[in-house]
Amino acid sequence: MKKVGVAILGLGVVGGGTYRILTDHAEFFRTTQHVDITVESVLEKNRERALALGVPAEKLAANIAEVVLDPDVNIIVECMGGVTDAKDYDLDALNAGKTVVTSNKELFCKYWHELERAAKQHNAGLFFGASCVGGVPVIRTLLDGLQSNEISSLVGVINGTTNYILTEMCERGIPYEAALAEAVARGYAEADPAADVEGYDAAYKLSILSSLAFHTKVPYSKVCREGITKVTAADIRNAHELGYTVKLLAVGKNTPAGIEVRVHPAFVAKGHPLASVGGSYNAVFITGDCVGDVMLYGKGAGDLPTGSAIVSDILYAATHTELHYATFKNTAAPAKDVKFVSDFESAYYLRMKVADEAGSLAKIAAVLSHGGISIERLMQRTDGDSAEVVLVTHVTHESAVANAVHKLTANGSAEVCSVLRVL
Ligand code: HSE
Repeated sequence: MKKVGVAILGLGVVGGGTYRILTDHAEFFRTTQHVDITVESVLEKNRERALALGVPAEKLAANIAEVVLDPDVNIIVECMGGVTDAKDYDLDALNAGKTVVTSNKELFCKYWHELERAAKQHNAGLFFGASCVGGVPVIRTLLDGLQSNEISSLVGVINGTTNYILTEMCERGIPYEAALAEAVARGYAEADPAADVEGYDAAYKLSILSSLAFHTKVPYSKVCREGITKVTAADIRNAHELGYTVKLLAVGKNTPAGIEVRVHPAFVAKGHPLASVGGSYNAVFITGDCVGDVMLYGKGAGDLPTGSAIVSDILYAATHTELHYATFKNTAAPAKDVKFVSDFESAYYLRMKVADEAGSLAKIAAVLSHGGISIERLMQRTDGDSAEVVLVTHVTHESAVANAVHKLTANGSAEVCSVLRVL
């Protein structure tokens, strides 16, 4: 039976889950995959944590050189997080001809091209299935299940922390701060929750997923990003009344005008499959020209779900001889002929405050009509001398809405409190 030695760099949540799966399922993998996988080495600063997980003391490495030089190690799993050390360690491993499996989405989305170059030069494998959407096998599905399709769009709820926060705000009516504190306490959030709530984590994942789906480099810098910190209880209540829920969406589209990639909170109609993705769960809704719509759903974070993706990559690497790389020329920047669309089209939800007096609505309608924006739904609540006007537009351009908001504010016809896209 083929023997494969694994080293794990970092025994935090994900590394710990990976270690547990590899040790608990070793016999299962021998039986089902016909491969004998052993953890030969672990690099973890917190010795006590490693020993508590059952790592034998003699398997604890002192430094990366020891891991890379170990002839029994074939595959190095990096679950360290952060970028600087992780990048150096991954490059050390690849340069030594070892296969690298990583869950590090920030590193991967920023330095994929450098890692891939080193892997190709040294005939090493490079696997990143755990970098996006944890245990949900969306990367493997794009690479090995949907490659017969031209994919036109990929829309996902791909950050568990923000989905947990928004679900709690929608279902329990609790304020943003309380929901964030709960998400952090439950261990869903990144070390710095800003990476979640400001949309960076989702943007890193969208950059990787869109590159795979559209066969071209979609740099992280091209993702239009907006977080959830400005979503208020009033928006959540209005969403509910209008028949929507609120999600942080990652949207990737390949249109005749170019590629559109964006991460932002959005109203999602309650009948849409993504509306039912609650709590810390993730889902990705993919549309291909042959298959039609496909939705993948599951846990996007956590020790065993993310460990599941890592160990699947280890097994894939251990049982396949040919190496797979990106289907496009993987460089820091996309090819010159690839166009990106930032003035995308969407329907919009607007919440504004106006004086409760004759002509207020007419002024708003005039600005929108001048901008070519058609109103689909309108709702108003009065409160003393002021009124809250809520409207949903028909599909229009991002720039048209930005101009209208600017005019409404500049001519004093309304105080625009919220602008959210509608799926
Ligand atoms: N903080 C991330 C999330 C973890 O909430 O989805 C997985 O990337």
